[in-house]
Amino acid sequence: MQTTVAISLVLSAFASVLSAAETFRFSSYYGNHMVLQKAPAEAVVWGYGQTGAKVVVSLSGSYEVFTTVINGIWRATLEPVKAGGPYNLTASQNITNSSVTLTDVLFGDTWLCSGQSNMAFTLGQVINATEELALASKYTDVRIFQAALEMSEEELIDLARVEVPWSRPTAKLLGGKEFSHFSAVCWLFGRYLYETLKYPIGLVHSSWGGTPVEAWSSTRALHTCGLTDSVPHSELFVQSDPSEDVSDKRKNSVLWNAMIHPLLNMTITGAIWYQGEANANYNRDKYNCSFPIMIDDWRMAFHKGSGGQTALDFPFGFVQLSTYRKNDKKDGFREIRWHQTADYGFAPNKRMKNTFMAVAIDVPDEKSPFGSIHPEDKQDVAYRLVLGARAVAYGEKNVSFQGPFPTHAVLKQDFIGIVFNQGIYAISDNGFFEICCSEDKTCETDDKWLPVPIEKHGFDYVLVSKPKCPAANITAVRYLWTDWPCKFKACPIYSSDGLLPAPPFILAITN
Ligand SMILES: *[C@@H]1O[C@H](CO)[C@@H](O)[C@H](O)[C@H]1NC(C)=O
Ligand SMILES: *[C@@H]1O[C@H](CO)[C@@H](O)[C@H](O)[C@H]1NC(C)=O
Ligand SMILES: *[C@@H]1O[C@H](CO)[C@@H](O)[C@H](O)[C@H]1NC(C)=O
Ligand SMILES: *[C@@H]1O[C@H](CO)[C@@H](O)[C@H](O)[C@H]1NC(C)=O
Ligand SMILES: *[C@@H]1O[C@H](CO)[C@@H](O)[C@H](O)[C@H]1NC(C)=O
Ligand SMILES: *[C@@H]1O[C@H](CO)[C@@H](O)[C@H](O)[C@H]1NC(C)=O
Ligand SMILES: *[C@@H]1O[C@H](CO)[C@@H](O)[C@H](O)[C@H]1NC(C)=O
Ligand SMILES: *[C@@H]1O[C@H](CO)[C@@H](O)[C@H](O)[C@H]1NC(C)=O
Repeated sequence: MQTTVAISLVLSAFASVLSAAETFRFSSYYGNHMVLQKAPAEAVVWGYGQTGAKVVVSLSGSYEVFTTVINGIWRATLEPVKAGGPYNLTASQNITNSSVTLTDVLFGDTWLCSGQSNMAFTLGQVINATEELALASKYTDVRIFQAALEMSEEELIDLARVEVPWSRPTAKLLGGKEFSHFSAVCWLFGRYLYETLKYPIGLVHSSWGGTPVEAWSSTRALHTCGLTDSVPHSELFVQSDPSEDVSDKRKNSVLWNAMIHPLLNMTITGAIWYQGEANANYNRDKYNCSFPIMIDDWRMAFHKGSGGQTALDFPFGFVQLSTYRKNDKKDGFREIRWHQTADYGFAPNKRMKNTFMAVAIDVPDEKSPFGSIHPEDKQDVAYRLVLGARAVAYGEKNVSFQGPFPTHAVLKQDFIGIVFNQGIYAISDNGFFEICCSEDKTCETDDKWLPVPIEKHGFDYVLVSKPKCPAANITAVRYLWTDWPCKFKACPIYSSDGLLPAPPFILAITN
C-alpha cells in the first residue's frame, strides 16, 4: 500500500517534469521531414516555451538565431538557406535546458493547397491510381503535410489537430480513405513542379469537402463583399460527398479560423485552390467579389504573419470548375466559372494579378464512381496548374499556359467573326457558340441566346453563322455557356498545340 503510494508520487513527479519539458516544442506544423521555404525568403519557425527563457535555434550547427519566449511563445526567422538538405533544426531553451531537434529537414518551395472535395480527392481515387501510388515513394524530395478537419468560431494561432504530419510520400499516406488524405491535385502539382524545378517541394494541404468560400474567408474579407449573414441553408448546397457529416463547417470564417489562420506564420511560395461547387447555389452572384477578396486577404495575412517573408502578392493558382450536370443551365456552374475569374474569363487579369487558372471544363467524367461532380482525371488539372505556376510564379518565359481567348467579335455581312489572341486548333461543331439577339440589348435570360454553328475557322479566328435576328439586335456572343458542353478533351477550340482549351467566355459584338 505504502509502496504503491510512494511509487505513484514518484511517477507523478516524473510526469510533471516530462510535461514541463514537453511545453518546450515547435508548433504543430513543424516536424521531421518538413520542407522550409528556401532563399531568397527566410523561413519562420515558432513554438512554445517558458515565458522569459532564452531560445537558441540552430541549423545543423551552421549558425544560431537567438530569441526569447514571450507569453509562452517563441519565434525565429532563419537566415536564407538555398534549396537542399537534409538538415537538423534544433531549438533549445535555457531555463529548463530543453532541446528539440527536427531531422531530415529540407529547404525548397512550400505551397499551400486548399478548397473543397475536388482538392480533398485523394491519389487513391484518381484515374490510374495504382500506377500513381506506386510512383509516389520515388519522389523523396516532395514532402507532404495535412491539417485535420477542424472549425472554430475564433482565429486559432495553431492547428487544433494534424491529419498527416510532415512525411516523405508513401502509397499508404497518399491513398488514404476517400477524400481523407492526401490531395491528388496537391500531390500531382508538387510532383510535376519537382520534375521541372529539381529541388524540394513542401505541400501543405488544408481543405474540406462541401465548403463554400465564405468558410475560408476572414470576417474582414467577407464584410468587403457585404457577406455578413452566416447561416447557409444546407439545401442550397451541391451535396458533394453524401457520406460527410453536415455540420457547421459552412459557416462564415470557421475554416479560415481553424485551418488557415494558424498557418500564417510559416513562409510559403504560393497557394493553389480547387473550390466553387459549394457556391454554385450559395452567394453565387457575389463570388466575383468574395473569391478575389479572399485571395487578397490571404496574401495580406500571410505576408504579415511571416513578418514580410511570404510575398504580399504571392502566386495563387486555381482550377476553374469542371462539370456536374449534363444539359443543366441552371446549376450555377457557368456563372461560378466566370466569377472565378472576376468576370474577365481568364487569369491573371487586372483584378486578379499574379494568379493562374487551370481550365477543367473539357475533362467531364460522367461515370466517376465518386459522382460526376468529382472527375477522376486530376492529372490534367494538376499539369495545367503547373504550366501556370511555371509561367506566373517562376517567370519561365515561353511556357504556354492559357488557352485561346477572344480579343474581339465583329458582325460581318454573312458571319460573325471571333478573333483570338493566339493561333487556335479548332474542331468544327455545333451548339457551343450562342448569339444574343435582343431588341433592348439585354441578354440576361437564356431565351435571348440562339445557338449558331462554326462555319469556318482560320489561324486565329472562327466565323459563326448569323442567327435569324435583325442585325441591329445582335448584341453579344458566348461560348461553352452551359454546365457540360463537351465530351472528354473535345471542346471546339484549343491552343494550336491542341493542349489547352479556350475557357468559356461572353463578349460584346461590335460592328
Ligand atoms: C542529424 O542528427 C542525427 C542524430 O540525431 C544525426 O545522425 C545526423 O547525422 C544529423 N544530420 C545532420 C545533417 O546534421
Ligand atoms: C536564460 O536567458 C535569459 C535571457 O538571456 C536570462 O535572463 C536567464 O537568466 C537565463 N536563465 C538561465 C537559467 O540561464
Ligand atoms: C542547465 O545546464 C547548465 C549548464 O550545463 C547547468 O549548469 C544547469 O544546472 C542546468 N539546469 C537545469 C535546470 O538542468
Ligand atoms: C492512364 O494510363 C494510361 C495508360 O498508361 C495512359 O495512356 C493515360 O494517359 C493515363 N491517364 C492519365 C490521366 O494519366
Ligand atoms: C458580380 O456579378 C454580379 C452578378 O452577375 C454583378 O451584378 C456584379 O456587378 C458583379 N460584380 C463585380 C464586382 O464584378
Ligand atoms: C502569427 O501570425 C498572426 C497573424 O499575423 C499573429 O497574430 C501571431 O501572433 C503570429 N504568431 C506567431 C507565433 O508569431
Ligand atoms: C523558347 O524560346 C527560345 C528562345 O526564345 C526558343 O529557342 C525555344 O524554342 C522556345 N521554346 C518553346 C517551347 O517555345
Ligand atoms: C429588333 O428586332 C425587332 C424584331 O424582332 C425589330 O422590330 C426591331 O426593329 C429591331 N431593332 C432594331 C433596332 O433594328
